[in-house]
Amino acid sequence: MRLIIQENYALLSKWAGYYVASKIRKANPSPSQPYVLGLPTGSSPLGMYQCLIELNKKGIISFENIITFNMDEYVGLPEDHLQSYHSFMKDNFFDHIDIRPENVNILNGNAPDLPAECERYEAKIKATGGIDLFIGGIGADGHIAFNEPGSSLFSRTRVKTLTTDTIIINSRFFDNDIEQVPRTALTVGVGTIMDAKEVLILANGHNKARAVAQGVEGAVSQKWTITALQMHPKGIIVCDELACDELQVGTYRYFKDIEKNNLDYNRLLS
Ligand code: GLP
Repeated sequence: MRLIIQENYALLSKWAGYYVASKIRKANPSPSQPYVLGLPTGSSPLGMYQCLIELNKKGIISFENIITFNMDEYVGLPEDHLQSYHSFMKDNFFDHIDIRPENVNILNGNAPDLPAECERYEAKIKATGGIDLFIGGIGADGHIAFNEPGSSLFSRTRVKTLTTDTIIINSRFFDNDIEQVPRTALTVGVGTIMDAKEVLILANGHNKARAVAQGVEGAVSQKWTITALQMHPKGIIVCDELACDELQVGTYRYFKDIEKNNLDYNRLLS
């Protein structure tokens, strides 16, 4: 696993945006050979999305031949609800780039048969040829997508009950009213994410420090689903200084040293 430590959120976001852009440019996608991205919601990826929008507007990258699969969606929230992940993606990313609407995939949390919807999603990912790069955030309890503590590290797309922790934390998007937060969500599984050819996790702020420490130094465990990344051949966590607060000094210094020539985002596109 690689750990890229950036000074602050702005630099973390630039690095992630340029990294994704460099992958797209290298793949040189075409209609017959699209590049497939797994995408997250949440506050962590906002800066990266902004960076990708700018690179798209400048003509440095195009999303014309990109297919996307989002990680998760709440169950029972109308698609046009301000806090649905459908709305989030439209408002913060898709409405501002040249992606084709038919290439966007987001789980339908209002499907009449939710397990069938999850099976359909898994089958579509497979039929598309798998995900080239899965980008994710991380919960304070170490969850990736909505794979809460206790999720099987081999799990696939399914309905998941949210923990009280997550409901409380996410209530900030629902007028701080926990009653308004859906109790369940559809989410890709840890196994679905691990099947991607590459995984990039973004973590910023002190409230992610325990999750980052567990993810990098902890034993692989369903209690911290981020730890599955240790088993992935191409996993990267990009974080800011605050998110390193719980790392051992030796771990911190090691990654600072081995990545010192890879921190400048400009070099990713040169
Ligand atoms: C939610 C999402 C996750 C996200 C996490 C952290 O639980 N399902 O995909 O990583 O929140 O969100 P934030 O980036 O806002 O801290």
